[in-house]
Amino acid sequence: TQQEALIRALPKVELHLHIEGSLEPEMMFELARRNGIKLPYDSVEAVREAYDFDNLQSFLDLYYAGAGVLITEQDFYDLTWAYLKRCEADKVVHTEIFFDPQTHTDRGIAFETVLNGIRRALKDGNEKLRISSRLIMSFLRHLSEEEGFKTLEMARPYLEEIDGIGLDSSELGHPPSKFERLFAECKALGLPRVAHAGEEGPPEYVWEAIKLLDVCRIDHGVRALEDEKLVESLAETRLPLTVCPYSNVKLKVFDRLADHNLRDLLAKGLCATVNSDDPAYFGGYVQENYLGCARELKLSVEEILQLVKNGFEACWLEEGERGWWM
Ligand code: ADE
Ligand code: ZN
Repeated sequence: TQQEALIRALPKVELHLHIEGSLEPEMMFELARRNGIKLPYDSVEAVREAYDFDNLQSFLDLYYAGAGVLITEQDFYDLTWAYLKRCEADKVVHTEIFFDPQTHTDRGIAFETVLNGIRRALKDGNEKLRISSRLIMSFLRHLSEEEGFKTLEMARPYLEEIDGIGLDSSELGHPPSKFERLFAECKALGLPRVAHAGEEGPPEYVWEAIKLLDVCRIDHGVRALEDEKLVESLAETRLPLTVCPYSNVKLKVFDRLADHNLRDLLAKGLCATVNSDDPAYFGGYVQENYLGCARELKLSVEEILQLVKNGFEACWLEEGERGWWM
């Protein structure tokens, strides 16, 4: 279709990608072998079969376990490089990725091992693939605010290498308000902030992320539609939502892609963007998310163009850094 050709041809950005969520089962096996780790699966197929989730938590349990094969700086480099090669193939020209340091430091991996591996790949991506990027350090919200402060202390010598702050993991029961002081400290350090909110959690969590954490984007945010005042505010401010359609279906936020509210978000004037979240677990990188939505939601050419443009509007590139594509 015309829509499909357009999606493949357009340069795109990605703004919601957990690098640990791009760990494909093949690489999981390879790293397990390299590091002498025994996996609880017999084959790549068995891993893929296990990726049948009921909700966010059932995914997170496997996602944190899978990340256990990442040990050396080279592992983090290889993981990030594989993702960037995929970006190249899909015409993703700029990407803003999350990493979860606590997932690694809590099992004895040094903060700088994680950071250096990812950073070195991003630098190579910039130089060899012409893909620009930002790196967002995300706090795990199921852990305490105090644990978050300890992680911020670990990060302090490397703040030049960190472009922003995020908040992810189990949403329900862990509202943004739990991290108000931590995010205030990050703001004082000059770091831009985003937070997952309104994925499984209620619109109140989106309000909290805006008012208490002073975020410049909401990750997911699809449940914002339940609150008319919030929709009005998001339309007025154009505070972006980094929507992840395949993720929402895999984690049962929506039953089917055809039921997703992406078109409604656009129709109400919100700055909704399309992203992949954890593509190795949810079965599609960002281009597949666009293609799937175009097919199942019957997106028009105008809607596709709007989504792609919203991505550029929502990204953190400065005027002078923008490439040939914008
Ligand atoms: N960590 C990785 N993916 C996530 C998601 N979709 N929601 C919350 N935390 C996450
Ligand atoms: Zn996410």
